[in-house]
Amino acid sequence: MTVQSIFAPGLFRDRVAIVTGGATGIGLAIAEELVSLGAHVVIASRKAQRLQIAARGLSADYAAQVAPVVCNIRERAQVEALFDQTLQRFGKVDFVVNNGGGQFFSPAQTITEKGFQAVIETNLTGTWHMCQVAAQKWMLEHGGKIVSIVADMWRGFPGMVHTGAARAAVVNMAQTLAVEWAAAGIRINCVAPGVILTTGMHNYPPGMAQLAARTIPLKRLGTAQEVSGAVSYLLSPAGDFVTGATLRVDGGASLWGENWTIPDPAQPPVVEIPPWPEQRWPEHAAAIGAADKSQA
Ligand code: ADE
Repeated sequence: MTVQSIFAPGLFRDRVAIVTGGATGIGLAIAEELVSLGAHVVIASRKAQRLQIAARGLSADYAAQVAPVVCNIRERAQVEALFDQTLQRFGKVDFVVNNGGGQFFSPAQTITEKGFQAVIETNLTGTWHMCQVAAQKWMLEHGGKIVSIVADMWRGFPGMVHTGAARAAVVNMAQTLAVEWAAAGIRINCVAPGVILTTGMHNYPPGMAQLAARTIPLKRLGTAQEVSGAVSYLLSPAGDFVTGATLRVDGGASLWGENWTIPDPAQPPVVEIPPWPEQRWPEHAAAIGAADKSQA
């Protein structure tokens, strides 16, 4: 089975892309869409077996060159090696998609130091390594496009403070780099997915997907292909004038819906509105009509 991209066949012919976290979920969908449009893709993650299976599968399904590279993005030397291997094999790096990341659900007060640091190191420092090494080893000289996958953290991220902080930092980093590296022909943007139906959903508490669907304006979860379409747009010539931006693909979830339950107080609040809550000067009350209301 192959996917049908809405973009023109051959759009990314002979382009070279690195997709981190490209063996599963959203990253796999992104790698697949790029491959389907003609790109050579290096998929990178820490887990060799799933990488090899995905690379073999995509290569066979699309008669394409998909290379698996084991890389822990937290480790600078491994990121350097990822770019060295990509350049050796394909001779250039046109696109970098920073999709690799991870987090776990926990109330803020019980997150350990180690757990917090791990999420920051992967989602923020790892993404930083990918951006800076991409620039140093190729893009400052030749240009290129970078897309980082972040998250729906616009109203904070209750239950995942570590990833909310890291992803917000990645959005800000993209804004800075879009300016500092504009003259080099580097465009850098983010895509912020909401709740997306992938295998990764199994890592969260049961029932979370159902609950999420109810609290999303579009009343459903997104698909990995809906995220990969947004990434493809930003990498395509149609996105050439877009840099430092973050495109939300979240069904409106960042705008509406309860994402954390705050218990009601034992005594429900009693709110009585006096005729003139901001009482200062009697003549002001008269001027705004409040005096009449108090007499009524
Ligand atoms: N995906 C999740 N964590 C990762 C890491 N540390 N390196 C690369 N890909 C990842």
